Amino acid sequence: MTHTIDYKGFYLAFRDISRLVHSSTSVQEVIDLAVWKTNELLDAKGTLLRIHNLETNNFEVTAARGIAEQYLGKGPVSSEQIRADLNYSDSVRIFSDIWQAPRVALPQQAWGEGVRMILDCPLRHDNDILGLIRVYLAEAREFQQAELDFVISLGEQCACALNKARLIENQQSRYNHLVLQTEKLSALGRMAAGIAHEINNPLGGILLYSSNMFKKTVDEDPCKKGLEIIIRETTRCKGIIQELLEFSRYKAPNKQRLNLNDTLRKALSILDNEFMLRHIKVTKTLAHDLEDILLDGNQMEQVFINLLLNAAQAIDKQGQIRIETWMDADRDLEIVTISDDGCGIAPEEAGKLFEPFYSTKSTGTGLGLAVSYGIVRNHEGQIRVASQLNEGTCFTIELPLDRPAPSEQKKQGNA
Ligand SMILES: Nc1ncnc2c1ncn2[C@@H]1O[C@H](COP(=O)(O)OP(=O)(O)OP(=O)(O)O)[C@@H](O)[C@H]1O
Ligand SMILES: [Mg+2]
Repeated sequence: MTHTIDYKGFYLAFRDISRLVHSSTSVQEVIDLAVWKTNELLDAKGTLLRIHNLETNNFEVTAARGIAEQYLGKGPVSSEQIRADLNYSDSVRIFSDIWQAPRVALPQQAWGEGVRMILDCPLRHDNDILGLIRVYLAEAREFQQAELDFVISLGEQCACALNKARLIENQQSRYNHLVLQTEKLSALGRMAAGIAHEINNPLGGILLYSSNMFKKTVDEDPCKKGLEIIIRETTRCKGIIQELLEFSRYKAPNKQRLNLNDTLRKALSILDNEFMLRHIKVTKTLAHDLEDILLDGNQMEQVFINLLLNAAQAIDKQGQIRIETWMDADRDLEIVTISDDGCGIAPEEAGKLFEPFYSTKSTGTGLGLAVSYGIVRNHEGQIRVASQLNEGTCFTIELPLDRPAPSEQKKQGNA
């Protein structure tokens, strides 16, 4: 017996569903409409749609029409079962004999309910099966291609809606995770700054009194060594606290036109002793033609000290640090590289270097690079790292030249 096809109904149903797929974020609305229209236009006894639940790995009934409650209560079907039943190349599968159809656990009961034929249409996306539409028919009949095409198209629309919903869900959960991390970090930062502030004053007191006592103590006094340790360790604590305070308090750079090489030389002179004690050879190749650029000298010096100190610590004993500066006139940049032949960084660690409090050193605060990153960014510059484990590390800083914008140049040229 040939079934009369309602082409207009197919067209309207398809139009409504595709409109919903593009306009709504509710996948349930799309699925309900698809099940309803499939059931109505194929003149089916019942239709149900299962969706793959990624957590349970089962296909669970998400929408149904014309199916008795006791039938629906049969629960989810495992993903393995669904995949085993479906031939991968099939867009639809028709079971004309329900006694042979897969997953009809009680064919007698189904027969009693009036089911004579079943049609399955998988919801596929990128080689994955996201769900399945199952249509129950009250009489066995031939399907025309237009009817099959209709179910297949609705299946594609549902798969598209499901995929879109999954993407949105993924993005939402990643976003929520990020927001939580950021909130935690900022709360931690505020707390750290508060504690740092409170500790700073008593530390100052300890340092003052211990230094006074140290000066008044004669060399033979057994307390002298202890006092020295107190002063050294308190000074170290103050240094850490100072870094923490500087990190949490944003300081706008106080920029002046300065020569980058001079700033580098100042940083190097502070660390001369450190390099000597560790037997580190420093090679400088500084460009002679560097233009003065807008820099906060103190802040940039701090950046260089952080990088040079890290390089020295990575080398530990005996090695080489190479420093280069040059001007990239094409890109309007001045560039500094600081390379060492120290321990290097494992690739999986490289992404964490600029995160505050990331440190692999027992006495490190993990703020050196985070502070440096902030300072370079406040100079509209970039800082990058390239490293090879056990070979060495190279930090590159790019800073913009202090040149007027092209429109300004034109105005100046015309003037
Ligand atoms: N040149 C380098 N070679 C190898 N590892 C490095 C180098 N520079 C930085 N690192 C790694 O990056 C981490 C973070 O550096 P950062 O300067 O931020 O903190 P830190 O040196 O540990 O502590 P501090 O706050 O005292 O500077 C270091 O602990 C180290 O593991
Ligand atoms: Mg450091």
